[in-house]
Amino acid sequence: MKHFINLKDIPSKELKKIILDAKKRKNIRGNNNTLDTDKDYPLKGKLLIQMFEKSSLRTRLSFYIAIKQLAGGALTLRSDELHLGKGSESLADTAKIISTFGNAFMLRTDSDKKLQEFRKYMTIPIINGLSPSSHPTQVLSDIFTIEEIKKKPISKLLICWIGDANNNVINSLIEASVKFSFKLNIGSPRKYQPNKNLLKWAKSNNGKIKIFNDCIKAAKESDVVFTDKVISMNDNVNKEKKLKEFKNFKVTKTIMNYAKKDAIFLHCLPRGKEVSDEVFLGKQSKVWQQALNRIYVQKSILLYCFEKLR
Ligand code: CP
Ligand code: NVA
Repeated sequence: MKHFINLKDIPSKELKKIILDAKKRKNIRGNNNTLDTDKDYPLKGKLLIQMFEKSSLRTRLSFYIAIKQLAGGALTLRSDELHLGKGSESLADTAKIISTFGNAFMLRTDSDKKLQEFRKYMTIPIINGLSPSSHPTQVLSDIFTIEEIKKKPISKLLICWIGDANNNVINSLIEASVKFSFKLNIGSPRKYQPNKNLLKWAKSNNGKIKIFNDCIKAAKESDVVFTDKVISMNDNVNKEKKLKEFKNFKVTKTIMNYAKKDAIFLHCLPRGKEVSDEVFLGKQSKVWQQALNRIYVQKSILLYCFEKLR
């Protein structure tokens, strides 16, 4: 049994195995209907319990479809419908019940501490479906999408991130840049630099990260341009003020023109004003393929947790 909480804690060999498995499985599957099961029925009879403390569209749908395609089933809980969410049952007892009724647990939470507490008490695999500090299933899936489109290992590409450099998605991207050895340029306002400890960790593990306070410099010659919402779900800030501070960090056609000619644009969604419609809906944007690929990578993440990767 294996947990999937932060990319940083998973050996790079294992992460690459997940990607490879997802590639094979997607190829074999072809154009089958959404809910048709894979012929090897790898998770037959297994129940994935997912719990959301925050909104979700893509993560919710893709985990549901992923476990169904693996021949298992899913049950989705809303934290405010549990005794735990109402404050009348302990986390330890909740974890014990989820562990005895279910076979894997996917949690989207507003507290990294809670994720660690669950990990302590769970006796089944726990998957981080987004926390304030990381979004590992999203970023692993994005690596899959990049390699699928670019047809080369991500280690041969220059990835650029424009926008808030201190949120869950960029944290996981920084961790991924170390695990998959790719170059990462970050363009963000001075006030919103990446987490210092994370950068220190990346540096001491041969990270190839460059930080710019100018998005043109960051985007220059890159193969992939990423951005994310300026205001994340856990952001307790003056929204208007923060949005103003990012007015020069919007991904526009001008920015894309500094990247390579065949560069692609990615965004995990949902989106705000950090990208122009022209880019988001334009030819270089691969956001719909990116969203759908969550299913394939989630499947291989589940198999990793059940130690069933081929
Ligand atoms: N990208 C992503 O995680 O989307 P949801 O918040 O809709 O799950
Ligand atoms: N950084 C965003 C990602 C949403 C999928 C948030 O946490 O709201």
